[in-house]
Amino acid sequence: MASKNILVKVNSLTRIFDVSKPWLNRILEREKKQFLRAVDDVSFSIIEGESFALVGESGSGKSTVAKMVVGLLDPTKGSIIIDNIDISDKNKKEELRKLRAEIQMIFQDPFASLNPRWRVDKIIAEPLKSFKLEKSEKQISARVDELLSLVGLDASDGRKFPHEFSGGQRQRICIARALASKPKFIVCDEPTSALDVSVQAQILNLMRDLQDEFGLTFLFISHDLSVVRHMANHVGVMYLGRIVEIANPKVLFENPQHPYTRMLLDAIPDLEMSNKERKPIEGEIPNPIDPPSGCTFHPRCPYADEECKIKIPAPINIKGIMVACHGVARGRIPAKQ
Ligand SMILES: Nc1ncnc2c1ncn2[C@@H]1O[C@H](COP(=O)(O)OP(=O)(O)OP(=O)(O)O)[C@@H](O)[C@H]1O
Ligand code: SF4
Ligand SMILES: [Mg+2]
Repeated sequence: MASKNILVKVNSLTRIFDVSKPWLNRILEREKKQFLRAVDDVSFSIIEGESFALVGESGSGKSTVAKMVVGLLDPTKGSIIIDNIDISDKNKKEELRKLRAEIQMIFQDPFASLNPRWRVDKIIAEPLKSFKLEKSEKQISARVDELLSLVGLDASDGRKFPHEFSGGQRQRICIARALASKPKFIVCDEPTSALDVSVQAQILNLMRDLQDEFGLTFLFISHDLSVVRHMANHVGVMYLGRIVEIANPKVLFENPQHPYTRMLLDAIPDLEMSNKERKPIEGEIPNPIDPPSGCTFHPRCPYADEECKIKIPAPINIKGIMVACHGVARGRIPAKQ
């Protein structure tokens, strides 16, 4: 068997936002500058043809990671290597130009990301033109028809405007546009969370089929663990800007290690109908401008001790699971019931 090729490697990625009040207000109110660590020392790899999911509650830093990975936002620290190219390497202009066509992004709100005044065929043709992928108008039109059919739409849909479609169909249009440049890697930020559950499943199935057909690699972002369960080869759980656990979804669902992963799983409606009691997520996410010391989960964690309040837990590897928790490292978290 051929060895697995790492397509995306994210190392110690960190993004700090300056969220200070304007200078004059700070002087008058005698306030210091304020910084928000939206993403803190995040590392993961994605194998070519696989999906890596990031999950976590609102504000945990998922979209900030996504924006950095596609180059929409510069990291404060850390590196992103895609197809062996460091995307911050300004000396590699030509390689980066080529790489840009290989990376696409699909957003949560398909309506906001489609120009309402353009017909769908023009929207899908736009990347073909900007990356100069097809030469003649005839070739462009044939490719647009092919892309529409790939996502389950009709060639005649190309003459319509985005508002003439349902939410699910609009997401299909976004997927067709993302596929236009024959990308290797697609970052999907909550691609189905604005859709009804039944439509969600159809779009997820379409994405999986396209992944199989074209060998696509996905970074898949969702606040919903049950959505990533069947989409991802590996799942990274984020809490306040950090990844606290990475495991394959089967292991994560059956044997979650980190207390926060357990809390998220306990809150999922019971899919297996085993009469398991559903527990709501307890406590609030702390203010990210002034996060708790040590393990930032400690005020919500039933297993927290003195060490947790002082020291940031380093990630450890247990049988292929990456987990950052003092309790797990010291064997004080009881086995999951
Ligand atoms: N441009 C910005 N300026 C200042 N703070 C920001 C900016 N973008 C994000 N943040 C903050 O960074 C943190 C992480 O935000 P992010 O949007 O990455 O979270 P998320 O996990 O995608 O949340 P959601 O599930 O709500 O989409 C939040 O506290 C957010 O308020
Ligand atoms: S490090 Fe401590 S506080 Fe943080 S999750 Fe583990 S046991 Fe809980
Ligand atoms: Mg987000």
